[in-house]
Amino acid sequence: MPLSTKKDTDNKGLEPWKISETLFPSYDKPFDKLKFFLNYAILAPSGHNTQPWAFRISTDDNTIHLYADRTRALSVVDPDDRELIISCGSALFNLQLAISYFGYRFETSMLPLRPKGEDTVDNSHDLLATVRIIDIHKKPEKTKDEEIKRVFNSITLRRTNRFRFDEGKEISQEVLSNLQSIAHKYDSVWLHIEKNKEEKERIAKLITEGDIIQMSNKKLRRELASWVHANRNHLRDGMPGYAFGFGDILSLVGPFVIRTFDFGKGQAAKDKELATGSPILIVIGTNSDNTHSWINTGLAMSNILLYLKSENIWSSYLNQPIEVPHLRKRLATLIRGHSDKNPQLLLRIGYSDIEVLPTPRRSIEQTMLGEE
Ligand SMILES: Cc1cc2nc3c(=O)[nH]c(=O)nc-3n(C[C@H](O)[C@H](O)[C@H](O)COP(=O)(O)O)c2cc1C
Repeated sequence: MPLSTKKDTDNKGLEPWKISETLFPSYDKPFDKLKFFLNYAILAPSGHNTQPWAFRISTDDNTIHLYADRTRALSVVDPDDRELIISCGSALFNLQLAISYFGYRFETSMLPLRPKGEDTVDNSHDLLATVRIIDIHKKPEKTKDEEIKRVFNSITLRRTNRFRFDEGKEISQEVLSNLQSIAHKYDSVWLHIEKNKEEKERIAKLITEGDIIQMSNKKLRRELASWVHANRNHLRDGMPGYAFGFGDILSLVGPFVIRTFDFGKGQAAKDKELATGSPILIVIGTNSDNTHSWINTGLAMSNILLYLKSENIWSSYLNQPIEVPHLRKRLATLIRGHSDKNPQLLLRIGYSDIEVLPTPRRSIEQTMLGEE
């Protein structure tokens, strides 16, 4: 069901979603190969679709450098850049997955020291990881690993789906066990899966408290409004109104309404319904709470979301209680029995027949800091 009359053919920001693996360079030019992998990194989700990542390609050692672009920070809703780093971790997962899919081997250094030559990169960009392709001159030979293939094929199909999920259609125990196995692959990461009705209601109560607190904050609303755009506005970042179900006309006034009115109560009622009406809520958390664990959260999140999509299961975020510090502690106590257990993301997952349009992305060139 299309939610907007917008034709995606006239929107350059939607073109990145049409990336085709047939475009992988068939000739042996390392720079072009390395750059091609970025096509998949930039399709990762990010808070308010800020796309807070930047890349630098070094052909000296066939390495892609991933930076957090702090000029794209959300200083009100995410004052510690926690979700910003999680978003970059998500892009890192897609990048590594694409490299594996095309049959190349790589090694990743997390939070490496800045190498020489980095003085060209300004201080608002922090190096989070380097990914060195070991065998870049090899002919591309796609992976035969079925798991990598199916998760990779979900990259261009994944979306945040903010609509109702089918309450009656349960998610199988096998899928839930697979989610636990995925989370366990990442250092420090834990996953809480909630399907119990009363427990979901308790979590929903924290979500509604988060909505009321957040929406009463004018600065937070102003920040949110600045990233919500009219459907026909062809900006290449931020969230078009259709991602929230706004038609073209409503999407024109959306940012004004968000900025001007405290709609916390209405949002709370809606989110309560979405949370309790979804078959499963999941919380991704970590044992520590630092840049390293936030990157790992992003890796685990992308892996989980793409695996879910390969099972035709949609996902959407309800992070409000994690974004408000005292509610974060209450959520941790509720689901893990202790206040310092560091929940990082709260998501609802489920089946739905509603098709969701993709949101725009900047071009690769707009995310690149230049060649060394
Ligand atoms: C770390 C992180 C936090 C997010 N928090 C929220 C949230 O609280 N509410 C929401 O509706 N979407 C949230 N999102 C989803 C983004 O808005 C979404 O990824 C972005 O608009 C791009 O759209 P897409 O996921 O459909 O590609 C979050 C995404 C990430 C990666």
